[in-house]
Amino acid sequence: MPAALHRPEPVLRHRAEPIDQHVPPEQAAAWLREGRSLLVTDRFGTGLDILAALRVQLEDPGESAGYVAKRAFRDAFQPASKRLLAPIVGRKVALADAPRAGFLAELYPDHTDFALPVEDAKILSSAWDWYEQGVHFPVLGYRVHPFYGTYIPARMEHLELFGTWLAKYKGARDRAIDIGTGSGVLALQMAKAGFKQVIATDINPNAIESVARQLRRLPTAPAIELEHADQFGADRGPIDLIVSNPPWMKGEVGRTLDLAMYFQDGFFERFYEQSLQRLAPGGRVVFVFSNIIELSQPDVPHPIQTELDRGRFRLVEKLTRRVKPSPGRRTREKVEIWELAVV
Ligand SMILES: C[S@@+](CC[C@H](N)C(=O)[O-])C[C@H]1O[C@@H](n2cnc3c(N)ncnc32)[C@H](O)[C@@H]1O
Repeated sequence: MPAALHRPEPVLRHRAEPIDQHVPPEQAAAWLREGRSLLVTDRFGTGLDILAALRVQLEDPGESAGYVAKRAFRDAFQPASKRLLAPIVGRKVALADAPRAGFLAELYPDHTDFALPVEDAKILSSAWDWYEQGVHFPVLGYRVHPFYGTYIPARMEHLELFGTWLAKYKGARDRAIDIGTGSGVLALQMAKAGFKQVIATDINPNAIESVARQLRRLPTAPAIELEHADQFGADRGPIDLIVSNPPWMKGEVGRTLDLAMYFQDGFFERFYEQSLQRLAPGGRVVFVFSNIIELSQPDVPHPIQTELDRGRFRLVEKLTRRVKPSPGRRTREKVEIWELAVV
């Protein structure tokens, strides 16, 4: 039986005070910070204005800020923003100018009328847009439609680099595994490269749902076996190619999507132990990685280099490519492919 999907927690009972556009957003934001709960009663835009004011008051450091600053902001923003509710009636956001959020109908079969934090309603609606439109992956040649709560890459360089590596791969193509498959892109790349069996696992059930739906959309579904599992899942026999684009930084996991960004103590140790047991003779472990950990967390031992220093694996090849900076920003970030073999 598939695991329950992650979804924003429905608010079934509350004592939130009604609020509308007649209250200045700055005032409403201040009330949220004081611990008051508010229910927007007129327009969705009223809720968005209040959230914008809250971001200003809590000094949102922006996307380009470092981990610590972003985390501190989120720790303050999240509890306050959760107290700003939107009414849901008939599984729709019952406010003027509310965006479509088709996931409400999919994720709440057990409730019709409830409330959701405006922030969650906003996330559900933009997730629905991504899901409907899909994201074009040049490495695949088609669009991938990520289900709500599934990690989707914001850039393509690392996928292209993996494609470059895969095109040169000369090893056996009987069985491959993509650990932490997310939207399934690496598994789909391997299936396209002719692997007879590709296993794709993820600890996030929404990712497994996402890839299952993607496979149903394709005219000819590739031979990808999905498993909701921690890392490797069930043993199906020796694996020629173990691939993972793991979380790139160490950190606390709060929301589901944090699982895509941050690893915790023991993650890589378990990964290497299992790799030693599961790898076929002559097999390879390939990480899709980045130097972001060296740039932003220089004190954290490098999770791949530390293992190489331990001497159980050797580095066969490392490919790197610069990341295209976003407009107006410089970056020293590079994406990397690390190919390891058992010593
Ligand atoms: C950086 S994302 C990569 C997703 C996808 N492979 C890609 O390249 O776009 C990391 C993924 O690993 C998953 N993940 C994190 N911890 C995991 C674990 N212990 N076992 C399986 N998957 C895990 C996350 O849910 C997320 O989907």
